[in-house]
Amino acid sequence: MEIKVLMIGFGHVGRGFADLLLKKEKILNEQYDLQVKVVGIITRSRGTVIDEKGLDLGKILNTTQAGQPFASTGLPVTDQSTEQLLETLDYDVLVELSITDLQNGEPATSYIKTALMRAKHVITTNKGPVALYLPELRKLSRNKGVQFRFEGTVMAGTPLLNLIHYNLAGLQIRKIQGIVNGSTNYILTRMSQGLSYEDAVSEAKALGYLEADPTADVEGWDAVAKTMILSAAVFKQPLTKEQIRRKGITHLRQEDVKAAEAQGKVWKLIATLEQREKGLLAGVQPELLEKSHPLASVHGATNAVIISTDFLPDVTIVGPGAGEYETGYSVLNDLINLSREIAVP
Ligand SMILES: NC(=O)c1ccc[n+]([C@@H]2O[C@H](COP(=O)([O-])OP(=O)(O)OC[C@H]3O[C@@H](n4cnc5c(N)ncnc54)[C@H](OP(=O)(O)O)[C@@H]3O)[C@@H](O)[C@H]2O)c1
Repeated sequence: MEIKVLMIGFGHVGRGFADLLLKKEKILNEQYDLQVKVVGIITRSRGTVIDEKGLDLGKILNTTQAGQPFASTGLPVTDQSTEQLLETLDYDVLVELSITDLQNGEPATSYIKTALMRAKHVITTNKGPVALYLPELRKLSRNKGVQFRFEGTVMAGTPLLNLIHYNLAGLQIRKIQGIVNGSTNYILTRMSQGLSYEDAVSEAKALGYLEADPTADVEGWDAVAKTMILSAAVFKQPLTKEQIRRKGITHLRQEDVKAAEAQGKVWKLIATLEQREKGLLAGVQPELLEKSHPLASVHGATNAVIISTDFLPDVTIVGPGAGEYETGYSVLNDLINLSREIAVP
């Protein structure tokens, strides 16, 4: 089966996904009968390239490594707007990988809606549209008979959402508790190894785990967005960010980490969703865990989530929560699953 992909965004995740398409071309062909043709890549400042016969991804990856605009590399550029291309180009799947905006989810939400309205499948790793508008986007995709997939929005390519959707099917999910932000876990881990909060933050920035402005991570907003996605996707109870108790890690200092250590405990930024009789309890906050707790031994930028259900008490999934290939893989995984469902008669 041939699938034509239109990409929005060619940053870390976009490049990781494009490179995986090249590296996995043979497997996709031979094991999944899948020929993926990228017919367009739209960016904010580098320009837009389109080719209905399929873009040469190897050339694009090589020539744009240093961040040059597409035009300077001899690639087939266009000055048509994103909206025009979404409305007119011949594609099967929109892969939306632009930057996350947690205030209004734009412009990604509008792009996704335009594609869905045209009955195009959509895959995204962008947290904004999913955290804020999942029920609406799901309804639209269902009405149009197409798929809306977003595995990479929580735990990157570590398949938390697919695990719950496919492998825990039929079970009642009672509680989800986990470390869903790798950079804060990295900071807390380095503090437990003797660094001050400030030095751990600087190190996390230098390693690319944190933005220049780390507020979204250290104040817990990124974890709140993921909690919103899980509440809507898993519990089917969308929450606003105001409905989620939130406390970041900015108040924690070396002394707190040392004091915890002396008690045989460890600080972790924990996101929790728990179905109670009165409703869904949702929060993101630093918690003191016993060292024997399964989340206590999750170090560095790794993510981990415990899913508690009615008949499998606790299932734990541990893995990367960010990264070029780690998140790019979530898109490839979504694409393979999407093609499997299209292929079913
Ligand atoms: N990186 C991760 O590990 C990770 C993990 C999970 C989820 N995510 C999410 O995945 C998405 C992509 O992340 P990333 O790390 O690849 O980001 P990134 O490196 O900052 O790249 C973002 C890309 O989107 C493009 N873009 C931004 N606004 C646009 C617009 N209005 N129209 C068209 N293109 C636009 C940028 O264009 P220019 O190249 O011109 O700047 C860039 O190519 C984000 O929503 C992020 O939150 C990332």
